[in-house]
Amino acid sequence: MIIAFLGSPGSGKGTQAKQLAERFGFHHFDTGSMLRVEAASGSALGERIAHYINAGNLVPLEVIKELVLKFLTATRAERIMFDGFPRNLDQARVFDEGLIEAGRTLTCAVYLQLDPETIEDRILNRRTCEVCGRIYNMKSNPPRQDEVCDRDGGKLTLRADDNPEKLKRRIEVYMSETVPVLEHYRGQDKLCLIDADQPIDEVTSSIVGLLGVTDGAA
Ligand code: AP5
Repeated sequence: MIIAFLGSPGSGKGTQAKQLAERFGFHHFDTGSMLRVEAASGSALGERIAHYINAGNLVPLEVIKELVLKFLTATRAERIMFDGFPRNLDQARVFDEGLIEAGRTLTCAVYLQLDPETIEDRILNRRTCEVCGRIYNMKSNPPRQDEVCDRDGGKLTLRADDNPEKLKRRIEVYMSETVPVLEHYRGQDKLCLIDADQPIDEVTSSIVGLLGVTDGAA
């Protein structure tokens, strides 16, 4: 089973993908986190990537293409969840071709549909554990102790691109580049809509019901 999560910044792609990976053994392929790790590494490629992320723009196709095709060629995982990919039509075409080459099929593109007015509130209140990557929200999903991860005591941090100015650009990019991807999958009859404007557990239940997943290993 191969799933792609689509949705605006803050729609809950990372939150849902992490839960489903833990509960049902999906391999979580998260381009945003992978790119942030490379950006923090100080490599020449990382510096280039950081420049795009910090501007709220998409990282160039050739970088993403290499990441995804390498993964698709090597992976043996039965259950895979792509989080934040594909982000534009060029990436969607690369994905279609890469899947064919790997003899795999996309099960569905899950679109987490969120009211635009909710985006800013979610993003500006998000905190992420710098150790395990667990995602919190200071309003809707706070840690037990301020700024400390419940799971491992790691420090909770605000992402560098989670501020009003960068978020504005990320939303513009989402509208112009990613929204057309929804039509791409609607045309393939693979687009599945989920109301992301419900509590986290209810969104998870909707996705589990849609996918019909049961326990299993990646
Ligand atoms: P990326 O990391 O993918 O960011 P994004 O798409 O902007 O999405 P977010 O991570 O902001 O939101 P999310 O939907 O995962 O929400 P979350 O679950 O955290 O990309 C960052 C950058 O990397 C891009 O701008 C680009 O530069 C680059 N990049 C990444 N992929 C790329 C690609 N394929 N091609 C080119 N460039 C790429 O939730 C948000 C908050 O809301 C949290 O606080 C959470 O606790 C809370 N929350 C979640 N669900 C609910 C709910 N149901 N109710 C209440 N609160 C909720």
